[in-house]
Amino acid sequence: MMRFLLMLTLLASSFLVVAEEEKTLSLQLPPPSLEKWYRPANKRDVWLHTMFRLRREMQAVSEYAALEDQARLKKWLDRLEKDYLSIGDMVPEWKDELEAGLLKKMQAAAKAGDMENLARLQRKLGKSCQSCHAEYKLTAALRYRAPDFSVVKVESEETMEEEDYSRVMSRLSLLLNRVKIAGDDGRKQAAMDALDQLEQRLADLGTSCPACHKQQSSREAILGEAARAALAHVRQGLEAGDRKQTGRYPGEFAVGVCADCHAIHRLQSDMRRLLSGD
Ligand code: HEC
Ligand code: HEC
Ligand code: HEC
Repeated sequence: MMRFLLMLTLLASSFLVVAEEEKTLSLQLPPPSLEKWYRPANKRDVWLHTMFRLRREMQAVSEYAALEDQARLKKWLDRLEKDYLSIGDMVPEWKDELEAGLLKKMQAAAKAGDMENLARLQRKLGKSCQSCHAEYKLTAALRYRAPDFSVVKVESEETMEEEDYSRVMSRLSLLLNRVKIAGDDGRKQAAMDALDQLEQRLADLGTSCPACHKQQSSREAILGEAARAALAHVRQGLEAGDRKQTGRYPGEFAVGVCADCHAIHRLQSDMRRLLSGD
């Protein structure tokens, strides 16, 4: 089986207060064939839906075993078996990890009405679920379900062109700092020009939200009234030529708009990128 090892080095000095030594964390990437079972390669997140069914089937098996309802128990055991074995069909790299024999034994125990044995076997099966999850659940979710900003475009009203997110972000950062530097040094016009551009760029950024959000409210939550008010504050500060205000308001704006949006999207986006090996 192909094994992709990804090493994340966490420097003790920056992450851990107690431990002095350098620590290493390794993450296991899921096999490449898993990708087929997620959007956009697939119409739906088939893998995830299979997993939700497995959880439901495990529950139904426990409940009908407790009720000693043989007919319904059989129905749900059959479903459990089918979905569990489908893991190996979907991701052949994982076929050998499956405990196919356990399902046969569970069927036999159910048929014999030996519910105690069935419960014991089911706990073993649960361990097989858990051991795969311990290794792959987090990396699969991040790799295939975290928002993918590398494919999202921002329409620029000025140039009428579509731009990459990372480029737009660098630009926003540059403009915000220009406002701050020029404001700090009393270069009012330069600060105002940068602020105008920043405002335009943020409006452009809003064109990217519908790629993932159907609701206008998501866009408003970050780029709406509060962001406009924060920018208006920055402008007032610059106009008044009050150094204290010109220093403070861009910072407040950065926290309320840039940092809030980053808190929701950027970590996930960074993790996806890291695990995609781009
Ligand atoms: C060979 C690997 C593997 C096996 C075996 C496996 N799973 Fe999973 N499972 C995964 C992966 C990978 C994910 C992460 C999917 C995602 O979040 O997109 C997952 C996610 C899930 C989730 C969603 C968890 C959540 O975040 O809410 C459930 C529920 C689940 N599995 C149930 C089961 C059950 C029950 C079994 C055993 C009967 C099982 N799985 C066996 C790989 C496996
Ligand atoms: C959609 C909400 C959103 C808003 C609002 C936002 N950002 Fe970002 N920012 C992101 C995302 C997502 C990324 C990661 C982009 C990627 O993965 O390509 C990012 C990345 C960045 C980066 C790193 C760029 C790189 O290529 O590494 C900088 C710098 C940045 N943003 C600055 C800002 C500043 C400054 C503001 C406010 C003026 C801002 N951002 C507002 C979502 C946002
Ligand atoms: C690549 C996909 C993607 C893009 C583009 C994107 N988002 Fe999101 N956003 C997500 C995901 C995924 C979540 C978390 C899932 C959820 O709870 O909705 C989220 C959550 C949010 C939330 C919190 C939940 C909510 O809907 O209120 C806000 C607010 C938000 N995004 C605003 C924005 C804004 C503003 C933009 C455009 C500037 C934007 N997003 C662009 C994927 C995206």
